[in-house]
Amino acid sequence: MKRVLQTLAALAVLAGLAGGAVVGLGLYNVSARVGHLQGVSWVLHTTFRNSVRLRAARPAEMPDLSDPALIELGARHYDTACRSCHAAPGEAQSATMAAMVPAPPPIGQAVQGWKPYQLHWIVANGIKMSGMPPWPAQREDDVWPVVAFLSSVQQGMEGADYGTLTRLPDEEAPLAYCLGCHGDGGLAQVPPLNGQGAAYLEMALQAYRGGTRASGIMAQAAREVPPETMGDLARWFAAQPVAPIPPQDMPADLVERGRALVHADTGDPDVPACRACHGPDRSERSAFFPNLAGLPAPYLRTQLGLWRDGRRGGGPQAGLMRKAARHLDDSDIAALVAYYASLPAETGQ
Ligand code: HEC
Ligand code: HEC
Ligand code: HEC
Repeated sequence: MKRVLQTLAALAVLAGLAGGAVVGLGLYNVSARVGHLQGVSWVLHTTFRNSVRLRAARPAEMPDLSDPALIELGARHYDTACRSCHAAPGEAQSATMAAMVPAPPPIGQAVQGWKPYQLHWIVANGIKMSGMPPWPAQREDDVWPVVAFLSSVQQGMEGADYGTLTRLPDEEAPLAYCLGCHGDGGLAQVPPLNGQGAAYLEMALQAYRGGTRASGIMAQAAREVPPETMGDLARWFAAQPVAPIPPQDMPADLVERGRALVHADTGDPDVPACRACHGPDRSERSAFFPNLAGLPAPYLRTQLGLWRDGRRGGGPQAGLMRKAARHLDDSDIAALVAYYASLPAETGQ
């Protein structure tokens, strides 16, 4: 027994020395031109596929992936975050990307054989030892728009449809880029910006860029523009008239309960009622407190859920809001969303 142990120990030392030589003396050829040793690519790819199948669980709830607003938001994000590697549907990859080891598959091929929640796992987590990056924020609900887009690609989306979906409005850069998503108020998870003050908007942009406010989509967008343009963009949006979007139709009983909550004393001396900070009808509202009147209900619901769970992040004053949301339950959130969404956008100004 002792001899067996001694032999094993000697083998371990030898293996360590051999490994040390490969690392220390540079014996392993890292040139991507040479590719992986025969069989290694197959092992890595098979490990990847089985690893995703093991880890990606079907969630209890999934958004409606055929929702055109979700597909368009996902396509617009894809256009700046993924297209450089996977190309657009029907588009040829650049020669350099096709030479990567492992190569990013063209998107029509990359989506084959995966279920939506498996695509969600891949986009959220990325793939180790390849060029595939993870989602750039500590949050995963905002990966679903990208999955909605990938599902449309699975169903055969063509290059022309992609072009229509990601077309930018006729404005100068970088404004055109922002307006692609923030333009006509049609993408439910994208807040309109023209009801907010410039100070709040600029603070939010800095927070996305600095990573203190979690959003994979805006983390990407905020770094697409030079930092010195942020103040101008914030002032431009703040100066636009509030879009005449009709108030959203919300269930009357929820709106009433929300109205009561928004005005009610919270019973906690540290936490004033929502109205004290957000209005409505509060002319002395701080320039850093957002206007909530008329924001899209799906956006409000997502944000309040994130605040309550301590995952929203934000600027220097975010602590105030975290405290205010800590004790909300799902039914409070439904009522608060219904109330603020039902207000005409201009009431908060
Ligand atoms: C820097 C290049 C790069 C970027 C950017 C990138 N990917 Fe990838 N992606 C890769 C590579 C390389 C692989 C292949 C990994 C492998 O086969 O081991 C991959 C794999 C995938 C797969 C799985 C494909 C398969 O073989 O089954 C999907 C789906 C995918 N990417 C989607 C996306 C989406 C969506 C985005 C944007 C949010 C994105 N990728 C951004 C490089 C990239
Ligand atoms: C691909 C779509 C997309 C693009 C492009 C985009 N945004 Fe956004 N934007 C979003 C989404 C989605 C959110 C909500 C993110 C969240 O959950 O925090 C958002 C949120 C914001 C907010 C926070 C608003 C609030 O009420 O808190 C600001 C400010 C903003 N975007 C400004 C910009 C500017 C300026 C640009 C151009 C540089 C831009 N966005 C480009 C999708 C986009
Ligand atoms: C003490 C002041 C204060 C109170 C009270 C307060 N908030 Fe806030 N709220 C803020 C601040 C400040 C922010 C922005 C923080 C940031 O992004 O850095 C915010 C942000 C929000 C947002 C995100 C808006 C957007 O465009 O992303 C929502 C939704 C919200 N509050 C809802 C509520 C509701 C509902 C209540 C009552 C339960 C409430 N707030 C109470 C200060 C407050």
